Amino acid sequence: MKRINIANSGFYTSEISLGCMRISEMTNKEISNLIHTALDEGIDFFDHADVYGGGKSEEKFSESIGMTPSLREKMLIQTKCGIRKSSFDFSKAHILEAVDGSLKRLQTDYIDVLLLHRPDALVEPEEVAEAFTILQDSGKVKHFGVSNQNPMQIELLTKFVKQRIVVNQLQLSITNTGMIDAGINVNMEIDPSINRDGSILDYCRLKDITIQPWSPFQYGLFEGVFLDNDKFPELNQKINELAVAKGVANTAMAIAWILRHPAKMQPIVGTTNADRLKDICKASDISLTREEWYEIYLAAGNKLP
Ligand SMILES: NC(=O)c1ccc[n+]([C@@H]2O[C@H](COP(=O)([O-])OP(=O)(O)OC[C@H]3O[C@@H](n4cnc5c(N)ncnc54)[C@H](OP(=O)(O)O)[C@@H]3O)[C@@H](O)[C@H]2O)c1
Repeated sequence: MKRINIANSGFYTSEISLGCMRISEMTNKEISNLIHTALDEGIDFFDHADVYGGGKSEEKFSESIGMTPSLREKMLIQTKCGIRKSSFDFSKAHILEAVDGSLKRLQTDYIDVLLLHRPDALVEPEEVAEAFTILQDSGKVKHFGVSNQNPMQIELLTKFVKQRIVVNQLQLSITNTGMIDAGINVNMEIDPSINRDGSILDYCRLKDITIQPWSPFQYGLFEGVFLDNDKFPELNQKINELAVAKGVANTAMAIAWILRHPAKMQPIVGTTNADRLKDICKASDISLTREEWYEIYLAAGNKLP
């Protein structure tokens, strides 16, 4: 498993991360097997959120492996806060309270990366700044980032927050490429030309913010998996053809396509299946040519101007 340098800051971790959003219904034995498979494959970065499984994902993660200081040291744990039942909340009080809850459930003294989960329309960046400073000074959080934010939202935050924003977690898969399409179809009167995210891809590259693509196998918003799906015949044919040629599974090809992008992104895979995870990790051993990357992009139904 190759390592990447998060935010070009000397913070190194596996280039593929395991997302823990779907683990809450698994048995402890299954979760433990998944986590140990990840570690054996070289994945040391685990993505959580306080809301996954209503807190159960964080709780069962540490419970299933019998979290110990030595196990904890082998891992980098990221979690998120800011989503409440019917609102988003980036207030100082909520951020501090949420982190304490995550620390308890994860049975740890510190979070490696804390992300603000979804933009809060009522954000007061001065409050976020105060919360981040308290969390950093107390040693509860080492690094800070955001999720689903556009460039101006990050600019607003960084006017007040003194810590670097090292991560922006965003939806990206071969069938969900809005942030790439807009850059290819500049100033045209077609739908892919619409810039829905304020050029977030280029912004993150400019600012050395690592993009973490979430749901890398899903089309739509959790509508399903595009691999082996009759809705995407041409795409699957191309992915399978390249996967066979390189001796990997189609899942590895889908992740290799993301890793080929020079923005050096860190995809967050959400499989709950240890065998599938092993297949996915092979993505780190292969590389795609420029032509292969574009062939997959076009097979997904995209067009070049
Ligand atoms: N920041 C945000 O707003 C946000 C939003 C959503 C997710 N996330 C993060 O991103 C992570 C990944 O999200 P995700 O779980 O939606 O991503 P994903 O990896 O695209 O999807 C995982 C799901 O797809 C299934 N799957 C994958 N390959 C398959 C195949 N070839 N055939 C059949 N099923 C297949 C998996 O089933 P198996 O379990 O059976 O393999 C699992 O149910 C989450 O865990 C979370 O950490 C963040």
